Amino acid sequence: MKSEEIRKLFLEFFEKRGHKIIPSSSLIPYDDPSVLLTTAGMQQFKKYFTREKDPNQDFGTQRTASIQKCFRTTDIEEIGDESHLTFFEMLGNFSFGPVGNDDPANFGPDGYFKKSAIYWAYEFIKSLGLEIDYVTVFGGQGEVPFDEESYKIWQELGFPENKILKRGREDNFWGPTGDEGPCGPTTEIYVDNLEIWNLVFNEYYQDKNGKLQKLQYPGVDTGMGFERLMKVLQKTPTIFETDLFENLRNILEKLVKKDDQRRKRIVFDHLRGSVFLVADGLYPSNLDRGYVLRRILRRLTLNLKFLEIELINLEELIKAVIDKYGQFYPELKKFDKIKNMIYEEVISFEKTLVSGLKEFERIIKGNEDDNILGEKIFFLYTSYGLPVEISKELLRQKQINWSEMAEKKFNELFKKHQQISKG
Ligand code: ALA
Repeated sequence: MKSEEIRKLFLEFFEKRGHKIIPSSSLIPYDDPSVLLTTAGMQQFKKYFTREKDPNQDFGTQRTASIQKCFRTTDIEEIGDESHLTFFEMLGNFSFGPVGNDDPANFGPDGYFKKSAIYWAYEFIKSLGLEIDYVTVFGGQGEVPFDEESYKIWQELGFPENKILKRGREDNFWGPTGDEGPCGPTTEIYVDNLEIWNLVFNEYYQDKNGKLQKLQYPGVDTGMGFERLMKVLQKTPTIFETDLFENLRNILEKLVKKDDQRRKRIVFDHLRGSVFLVADGLYPSNLDRGYVLRRILRRLTLNLKFLEIELINLEELIKAVIDKYGQFYPELKKFDKIKNMIYEEVISFEKTLVSGLKEFERIIKGNEDDNILGEKIFFLYTSYGLPVEISKELLRQKQINWSEMAEKKFNELFKKHQQISKG
């Protein structure tokens, strides 16, 4: 089954169970200063969990479902391996309190809780022909008790003890996004040893000091990583062989002159991510979220260069992303705007890169002491505009160690430089 069909099945499944289908919100959160970019499906619903907004009034039900565009920057250095992504889609169903009749046979519109959430997740996974390997539940830690209710529900569904693993706060407690918000214990579903679906029971509100308070009404916030789901459904070696990347991959394979898996994955991820960010109105800058976009476009440029792909081919690659996703995300249907913005940034950075790379090759020997290395990278930054994260990537590639001491030296010079520039 193709990804388009799975999106549809998911939304239909929950619509039938009383959920109002809500379109993805923008990657640029309009109402949540706690985060730079949208990182989870629940973000657009935060105020329904806290009851600052009334779901019945806005949706005519206490249940919603969505497929949310998400962008996470925490793993940016890991991109290129088999499983990390910056941009991804998250399939989620949500319930806002008060809880009514929590019976999976009750199709709404009242609020539900653990029993319905777990039964439906189980049913949906089964309906796709997948087998759950095992699940995890919150085992209890600190002031938050063991989630015995979820444990028993999984038992009711026929899971033996060795397939319901108890985990602590690190693994089975989710949220908040940013520095405050709804959060709670989770139960997670694993298929083919991959965490597929995270069911969060929002029972708490964490304030800015990290203190937990019980929410007036508990709620449900689930998130299933779409790329991972497609990987287990299509039984591909990694997420990058699923149909989500199919046409992008076909084009890239034709263009590359060097076979380098890691760089190809960086291109898949960063290109797709930047198309979505630009479509949501972001432009590259040196500030906050604009810098996230600038950073991934720079890394995209670097990796295209190493794969010996002419920048002119970006046009075809951008089009491949829009062709694949434009139907479901109509905001992508502005090819010219997206292409122009990406081109402008990439071409201007390429100039910096060409001269910076040349100088890098000339001066970095690989046997210099840490302080000297810090000084050289600083010189490349101030005189050639070569961003430090790009230099670090080049060093990694040459297997030259960037030590804490080198970093310290670089930071020291950078600080002085800033003071001088400020006068
Ligand atoms: N909000 C939860 C997550 O992002 C579902 O994993």
